[in-house]
Amino acid sequence: MDINKEIERRRTFAIISHPDAGKTTLTEKLLLFGGAIHVAGAVKSNKIKKTATSDWMEIEKQRGISVATSVMGFEYDGYKINILDTPGHQDFAEDTFRTLTAVDSVIIVVDAAKGVERQTRKLMEVCRMRKTPVIIFVNKMDREGKDPFDLLDELEKELQIRVRPLSWPINGGAKFKGVFNIFEHTLDLFTPSKETVTERVQISDINSPEIEKIVGEEDTAKLREDMELIDGVYPEFDKEEYLQGEVAPVFFGSALNTFGVKELLDCFIRIAPSPKPVETDEREVKPTDPGFSGFVFKIHANMDPNHRSCIAFVKICSGKFERNVNYKHIRSGKMMRFSAPTAFMAQKKSVVDEAYPGDIVGLPDTGNFKIGDTLTGGENLNFKGLPSFSPEIFKYIENDDPMKAKQLEKGIRQLMDEGVAQMFVSQFNGRKIIGTVGQLQFEVIQYRLLHEYGAQCRWEPLSLYKACWIESDDEKELENFKKRKHQFMATDKEGRDVFMADSNYVLQMAQKDFPAITFHFSSEF
Ligand code: G4P
Repeated sequence: MDINKEIERRRTFAIISHPDAGKTTLTEKLLLFGGAIHVAGAVKSNKIKKTATSDWMEIEKQRGISVATSVMGFEYDGYKINILDTPGHQDFAEDTFRTLTAVDSVIIVVDAAKGVERQTRKLMEVCRMRKTPVIIFVNKMDREGKDPFDLLDELEKELQIRVRPLSWPINGGAKFKGVFNIFEHTLDLFTPSKETVTERVQISDINSPEIEKIVGEEDTAKLREDMELIDGVYPEFDKEEYLQGEVAPVFFGSALNTFGVKELLDCFIRIAPSPKPVETDEREVKPTDPGFSGFVFKIHANMDPNHRSCIAFVKICSGKFERNVNYKHIRSGKMMRFSAPTAFMAQKKSVVDEAYPGDIVGLPDTGNFKIGDTLTGGENLNFKGLPSFSPEIFKYIENDDPMKAKQLEKGIRQLMDEGVAQMFVSQFNGRKIIGTVGQLQFEVIQYRLLHEYGAQCRWEPLSLYKACWIESDDEKELENFKKRKHQFMATDKEGRDVFMADSNYVLQMAQKDFPAITFHFSSEF
């Protein structure tokens, strides 16, 4: 098989949205078009229903489903598409951040009535940082929503990216008639139904009298006016700018009514990138490089406490991955062979013999892997560390059973390797601080320590605002700062210095007083 062709036809991406915007529905419809599923309703939502937050066992059970739906691969029009699922619950945002390091592009789903919501804004920050190309799908056009021009302004402002509509709605809500597809020059007509697919009419140009016949005079006049405005305000769509993460094309549709979804997919396969080169500490790895290389971006623990088995998700960055071939685990220096690697097609996972750059393989593991680990055919490479973002909630973790100190130590270490939360050690008093993005994780950690390691922990309150990784060319100033802020200095898992600011004010003052020091809110800088 020609490896270059295999790479060229791969599209690996994630769909991100605020909960309830329609990610699950859109994913399902994409799978329907790929022939990967045959009936609507077949995709189990990985979304955590509105359970009480303390009911996290239920949440974990629902998350269990997500092993199968973590990666959904399907074939469409000669392309191999891999959708990486991201957890809907915001307490698992850290998982989503890491998943974004394994994708080559992103589709953002926005609810036409709600516009840009908090979680989308946060996730977009990660895309911007990594210059990930994004396409925006404005969903739920069948409902009364915001004015589309206002929405575009909001998208630009809130997501801090230039936008370019590639389809344009004719009304919205109950009067929604469909869209003018700017990308393909068609009129896509809306029928409110879950089963029927968009009806398409080829249009030579926006002045074609055909449009009046179909949508009526009034709506045609409005459409022409809108189009004139769009052409005046937004420059022509430039694929290169999209690939550089500078401009986001926007589509309007309704996932529930399977409207605008195929059109989105058809444009996506044409413009979205195939696997890109990836930086390592040693060199840039190109997908076409002959040797296999990949990195672990997610570890899914088995909830059965008797078997500490997990699945490590590896994104293939170069070469061909083969079953039963020896690969080097760079951190330990050990050679490893995998007899049952799994690939993900539709919602099934099955053992694969080979996989290509852009693909994700699931490797059964019993605790050898850490998030961010590199595997290669033998070359010593280290993919740049996956970014850690400053947690939002911090607590001291204390041992509640002196007889089980060792178990607690081991449990904490393994859970942190799995990426459940981040640990910092205070340089002042040596106490361990656990930081998370959601309250839920503290319950998850406590429960898992007890059930998987027999260790008991207790949380003690700690009021902190942010963890900032500090850096400076001025060694003296750095030492000076660390001395002055000794009480608030901690060390992260890589041994880096982290300033634990207890308020926004304190942070601002520190930034002002120490201009030679840079304060980073993510460990990737
Ligand atoms: P999420 O994964 O982003 O959290 O969202 P999901 O797809 O589960 O969609 C959230 C709700 O929005 C669902 O309704 C879904 O049916 C609805 N929805 C999705 N797309 C559209 C659309 O284009 N138009 C309209 N009107 N609704 C849409 P629900 O009642 O919360 O769930 P369900 O009981 O229907 O599954």
